[in-house]
Amino acid sequence: MRKNFYYLTTFPEIIEAYFNYSIPNRALSEGLIDAKAINLRDFTSDKHRTTDDSPFGGGPGMVMKIQPIWSALESLNLTKETAIILPTPKGQLLTQSLLKELSQKEQFVFLCGHYEGIDERIGLYAHYAVSLGNYVIGGGEIASLVLTDGILRLIKDVLGNEASILEDSFEKGLLDHPQFTKPRIFDQFPVPEVLTSGHHKHIELYRRKECLKWTLLLRPELLKDATLNDKDYEMLHEIIHEIQQSFLDLRK
Ligand code: 6GU
Repeated sequence: MRKNFYYLTTFPEIIEAYFNYSIPNRALSEGLIDAKAINLRDFTSDKHRTTDDSPFGGGPGMVMKIQPIWSALESLNLTKETAIILPTPKGQLLTQSLLKELSQKEQFVFLCGHYEGIDERIGLYAHYAVSLGNYVIGGGEIASLVLTDGILRLIKDVLGNEASILEDSFEKGLLDHPQFTKPRIFDQFPVPEVLTSGHHKHIELYRRKECLKWTLLLRPELLKDATLNDKDYEMLHEIIHEIQQSFLDLRK
């Protein structure tokens, strides 16, 4: 079942550029998805094709009008399995599990806001309000594309055998292990020996231990939701011991 991605925007070129390259472009040409940037100006009724106006109550900046967005929505064939998504700093924080939930939908409509925001009544139509994090960026197009990029790679056949989604950071609940490629030695730094040993079981254990180590060091809060087995706990103890040892070595 082909998934549809719609973007209601005043900057369709930003969206189109994204779909011209790499994985999104291939997903389009292989017919796995359809994507369409819909120019909100085409749904205005005044001579100047205005999509924004000054805020009621005064204040700086402009607010996006609701009528062009409403008219654009009305022009679409919205099914029950459509997610209308409003990217906004006021939304729920984007997580991998939200991406997974969204990737089950058939159709996506992203409402790309600019300026000081969109008329609050847009909330009547959005199923999801999503924030990328605790900071502010300029516009909804880039945020919509971040969501799109995360959703696309969860859609069946989009990645092909290029990567296993199950191996992703966050999918296992741990940060990913480091990766290396040729040359074996760069600027005197060799790659970890085990990786060139050809010993698959050792490589697998080394990688799991690296996942555990970097998660412990950089994002310890993730460990409490990760699924860990006895061997993982054993390796965590080894890691802690190794870290302690390296501190002791410093004092020598
Ligand atoms: Cl979704 N939009 C904007 N403009 N800023 C953001 C954001 C979204 N998420 C975090 N900051």
